[in-house]
Amino acid sequence: LTQSGLTDRRAIIITDANVAGLFLDEIKTLLVPHFSTVSHHIIPAGETSKNFTALQDILTAFQHAGLDRHSLVIALGGGVVGDLAGFAASIYMRGVAWANLPTTLLAQADSAVGGKTAIDFCGTKNLIGSFHQPALIYVNTAALATLPQDQYISGLAEVVKYGIIDDALFFDYLWYNRHHIADRNVQVLEHILHTSYKIKAKIVAQDEKDTGLRQVLNYGHTFGHAIESLTDFTLPHGHCVALGMICAAAYSRMDASQTGRIATLLDFFGLPTKLPAPYNFTADDVYKMMQQDKKATHGTITLIISHAIGSVEITHGAKESDILTTITAIL
Ligand SMILES: NC(=O)c1ccc[n+]([C@@H]2O[C@H](COP(=O)([O-])OP(=O)(O)OC[C@H]3O[C@@H](n4cnc5c(N)ncnc54)[C@H](O)[C@@H]3O)[C@@H](O)[C@H]2O)c1
Repeated sequence: LTQSGLTDRRAIIITDANVAGLFLDEIKTLLVPHFSTVSHHIIPAGETSKNFTALQDILTAFQHAGLDRHSLVIALGGGVVGDLAGFAASIYMRGVAWANLPTTLLAQADSAVGGKTAIDFCGTKNLIGSFHQPALIYVNTAALATLPQDQYISGLAEVVKYGIIDDALFFDYLWYNRHHIADRNVQVLEHILHTSYKIKAKIVAQDEKDTGLRQVLNYGHTFGHAIESLTDFTLPHGHCVALGMICAAAYSRMDASQTGRIATLLDFFGLPTKLPAPYNFTADDVYKMMQQDKKATHGTITLIISHAIGSVEITHGAKESDILTTITAIL
């Protein structure tokens, strides 16, 4: 990322208030020798920062830092920081390079790969965004040591998803190593991240702009996003995806023993397989929200189904009655 011949190359680190306290100084110190200036900008932590105001603040920080086309934007944090900083980098001066330094399991295993950037808009997640691949993704599993347990297990839901959609052997690996995973064993985590990356990269390489195959990454997410919206984003993303995967397995009429293994693994990690208290909505509430999903076409719902762990297919025009029955699996 260092460019020879440039005497004035500037960098800016975008991070959130929690991550700044943990890693900002260390990362800044590492970068200072390689850039003429290294500034930083701190956003409030959490999903509510994925909005226009935070985006505008970041673009203003770019301008104050004197960034130009040769500058580098560094996202240091979870998926929120990555989505927001990546989007800002994609539109500033029609696009400047960015590096992603993910610090949550969800970001390390999933969101840092694939080049999707976005903010939420009018109550819809990721409605405004772009495809802008990072020039570098740097993953350090040591960062996960400070991650709160709820956030850690939220990331595990996406990891389990990779086993279900693409790799039965990987699912077995997760199953047999579940105690090490729960203990955040670094070697096991490295294998998990490596495999998740390989699977995601393979799929994204075939459909970068998400017009076909990439939709399989959405396994469990159509249900999950609806649940997430209904909880007003108070239930972490991965918890909602876990519930969504239970619904997807029910919709797919997956063999009971395989559905049981998925549910047992999610439950072992502490992820919900039934809608937890105090949330209390009906199958109809979830269905109505699913129809508003930005990936629903004129209210027609596309679902990713898996008849057996390790393989998926995309189905369009799912029937309302089937979906409603399916949702009762988590109620
Ligand atoms: N671009 C994509 O392809 C893609 C894919 C999946 C999800 N996402 C997006 O990712 C976002 C969710 O990401 P997330 O789960 O990482 O949430 P997040 O970025 O909000 O991070 C979760 C919390 O953990 C804190 N945190 C981060 N790293 C920490 C560390 N090492 N130690 C202690 N605390 C730490 C953060 O401050 C925050 O409070 C959503 O907005 C979702 O839409 C994007």
